[in-house]
Amino acid sequence: MTQPLTKADYDPKDVTVHHDPARLRRVVRALRSAGRNVALVPTMGALHAGHRQLIREAHVLQNTVVVVSIFVNPLQFGEGEDLDRYPRTLEEDVAACREERVGLVFAPSVQDVYPSGAAQTTVKAGPLGAELEGASRPGHFDGVLTVVSKLFNIVAPTFAVFGEKDYQQLTLVHRMARDLNFDLDVVGVPTVREPDGLALSSRNRFLTPEQRDSAVALSAALVAGAHVSARGPEAVLAAARATLAATPGVDLDYLELRAPDLGPAPAHGDARLLVAARVGSTRLVDNAAILLGDGDNADHAG
Ligand code: PAF
Repeated sequence: MTQPLTKADYDPKDVTVHHDPARLRRVVRALRSAGRNVALVPTMGALHAGHRQLIREAHVLQNTVVVVSIFVNPLQFGEGEDLDRYPRTLEEDVAACREERVGLVFAPSVQDVYPSGAAQTTVKAGPLGAELEGASRPGHFDGVLTVVSKLFNIVAPTFAVFGEKDYQQLTLVHRMARDLNFDLDVVGVPTVREPDGLALSSRNRFLTPEQRDSAVALSAALVAGAHVSARGPEAVLAAARATLAATPGVDLDYLELRAPDLGPAPAHGDARLLVAARVGSTRLVDNAAILLGDGDNADHAG
């Protein structure tokens, strides 16, 4: 039998922060038994307008209580990556969640999520996990999928909302949910951009003003590629590459055209253009939908 919820478990008029997985699970179960849908927005905190958009999309799903998880997952950071300098801003994040009418924040400790130290049982992302981002960040997607599957099991939401900015992550989460029979819907939300096109990211705060100027080259390259998409894959890649090459301070890691499911790119039709580059010591990614060989789709970058 489900215990009745107290105001300390869930307050319909304010955000409630939970750290303990068992308690959060009990609260979500009670809400779902009472007929509510639960939409999980998994984050690593340092919330910005992109996260707020995910939360707003989560509210649009019917009859939902929105749960935002805030957890900097050590398992998805490789050696020498920015785990230590990753921003941790829980107080500001909770204030942002309050403004966005989030019902529950789940902010577990590393010990709560990995009680026996390093996880022994993990999720493998499969071959796609070793490509694109995975080629530069071995094991990254195994770490992402392991923590996301734990969050899915702890929260047991109706919906889980992810940004298209991390398109490979979104694709792999979709695949995992299907392959491992998670009983939820994965919802993708288009990337939120600065007025000049830069995709919002928690890592943008590390950019100096000059680096910030250079970083716009990533989205500009996607737009340049989209402008010539009617001329086919080679033209798209050449235009995007030229934009990146013309910008000082951008150390390109990859620029690739793929199918929307990240299989090999088609010659015509729907495709995805993906880019990753280091600007200073900050690694940035971006991507856009491209319609190949089908007339002018200059407005298609998103
Ligand atoms: O996209 C992120 O912020 C993280 O990879 C996620 C999905 C919260 C897992 O730690």
